[in-house]
This record gives sequence, structure tokens and C-alpha cells, in this order.
Amino acid sequence: MRLHGKRALVTGGSDGIGLAISEAFAREGADVLIVGRDAGKLEAARRTLIASSKDGSTVETLSADLSTSAGIDAVAAHVKQGRPLDVLVNNAGVAFLVPFESVTEEQFQQSFALNVTAAFFLTQRLLPHLTAAASVINISSYFASKMIPKRPSSLYSLSKGALNSLTKSLAFELGPRGIRVNAIAPGTVDTAMRRKSIVNLPAEAQAELKAYVERSYPLGRIGQTSDLAGIAVYLACDEAAWTSGGIFAIDGGYTAG
Ligand SMILES: NC(=O)c1ccc[n+]([C@@H]2O[C@H](COP(=O)([O-])OP(=O)(O)OC[C@H]3O[C@@H](n4cnc5c(N)ncnc54)[C@H](OP(=O)(O)O)[C@@H]3O)[C@@H](O)[C@H]2O)c1
Repeated sequence: MRLHGKRALVTGGSDGIGLAISEAFAREGADVLIVGRDAGKLEAARRTLIASSKDGSTVETLSADLSTSAGIDAVAAHVKQGRPLDVLVNNAGVAFLVPFESVTEEQFQQSFALNVTAAFFLTQRLLPHLTAAASVINISSYFASKMIPKRPSSLYSLSKGALNSLTKSLAFELGPRGIRVNAIAPGTVDTAMRRKSIVNLPAEAQAELKAYVERSYPLGRIGQTSDLAGIAVYLACDEAAWTSGGIFAIDGGYTAG
């Protein structure tokens, strides 16, 4: 088990990519703490994780809204009640794919609050409670560097670009303490977030998007959440002891083109 004895926090671990990463961590023997807002989703995820967990490793859940300072404080306070954290995955995110001219200030604030501010301040608050060789993993997006025709992404791309900059600057700043900081930049992955973002598109636009995706992904398909698990386990474990500051594209080859 590659993560035996490690304690990991996964924000947004109750669904989608965060849940798949949490499951992989549990299978590899880590004690896992997941955070989300919806208590029902957290309980369902807890049961899934317990089924995957190994050799007495534990599963904890915490309901908190990470787009608020109170939520960040609550998560930091909870983590500090336990032993130091080996792995922090800043995964919870929100995507407003709206035309530039109609982005509202509220959407802007919400997007930055969760995609950037939460990753920034949660990592900062937890710094004194990270182990000497801790791994911080930020979940970015291909949208930071490559767009999709007719999928307006100025706000989302900006927030994920900021997260990539944070990843690199923290790798540099925290490296001397032994802390590694990396990002995973997934391509399109079949999750609730993705489904929500296309459900209101007219049928013609959905068909156009499907055709675009099919011809743009060299591997011929969008991702499943399980496609992100292996890289997360690698970045979390000791095999990655010299891996820091990387933005790892896990996207079926999309950004190679
Ligand atoms: N799906 C894709 O195609 C794709 C592609 C590239 C990058 N990403 C990135 O991958 C990450 C995960 O996306 P996903 O598609 O897996 O999303 P998802 O299926 O919608 O899951 C999001 C998770 O985050 C939690 N969450 C949302 N808002 C929160 C908040 N304010 N405070 C605390 N928890 C919150 C959700 O639980 P609650 O709703 O109960 O809070 C849920 O557990 C995001 O950062 C996203 O930008 C996704």
C-alpha cells in the first residue's frame, strides 16, 4: 500500500474527481478526510470510502463551505484536532462558463473564492500542521491553457491560471521546507460539474460539442473520474519525493494539439 500511514484531506471529496481520488487514497491505505457542503453526499461518499479502505485506515467527513472564510477556518480547526497532514488536495471548484460580457461580479467573486482563495488560505492555515515531506495537490484544468470553441471560459480559465501560478510559486517557496506542490490539469471529465455545464445548451450545441470532443481527443474519449486517480496517488506518495512545481496534464492528449 503506497499511502499506508498517511493522512490526507481532499476538498470536494464527496463527488466527482475528488471522490475518485479519495477512493484511490483509501485503497492505498491512507486515512482520508473529505470536505463538501452537502451532508447527504458526504455520508454516501463515506460509505463508499469505508468499503475501499484498508487495514483499519479511517474515513472522516466534514461539512463546510470553502468559498467562505468561516468554512476555511472550520476545516483548518478540524484538521488540527488530529495528527499532522501528509497530503492536501485542493480539489473543490466551480465553473461558470458564461460569455465574458455577461460575467457578473458575484460569479467572479464566487469563482475566485473557491478556485483560488480557498486553495491559498487553506494551504496557508494548514502549513504549521503539514508533515515535513507533505504533498499539496491542486486540481487545475486544461482550460488554464487551452480553450474550446463556443465554450466561453474567461472567468474559469483565469481562476485556474491563477491556481497554476500559485502551484509554481508555492513549490518554490515551500520546497526548502520539504513540501512538494503540484497541480493536475484534467481534460473534460464526466462528472456532475460537466453534466451541469452542458445540460442547458441547445441540442444542436450539445451535438456540436460532442463531435468536437470526439475529433479533438487523440485517445477518442473524454475522461472518467478514475482516470485521475493514478496521478494523484503518485503525487501523494513517497515515489514522487523529487516531483514539485509540475502541472500534470491528464487529458487524453487534448492539450498536445
Ligand atoms: N469535470 C471536469 O470536466 C473538470 C475538468 C477539469 C478540471 N476540473 C476540476 O476538478 C475539480 C472537481 O470537479 P468535478 O467535476 O469533480 O466537480 P463535481 O463532480 O461537481 O464535485 C465537486 C465537489 O466539490 C464540492 N464542493 C463544491 N463547492 C464547494 C464549496 N463551496 N465548499 C466545499 N465543497 C464544495 C462538492 O460537494 P458539495 O456540492 O456538496 O459542496 C463536490 O464534492 C474542480 O476544481 C474542477 O474545476 C473538472
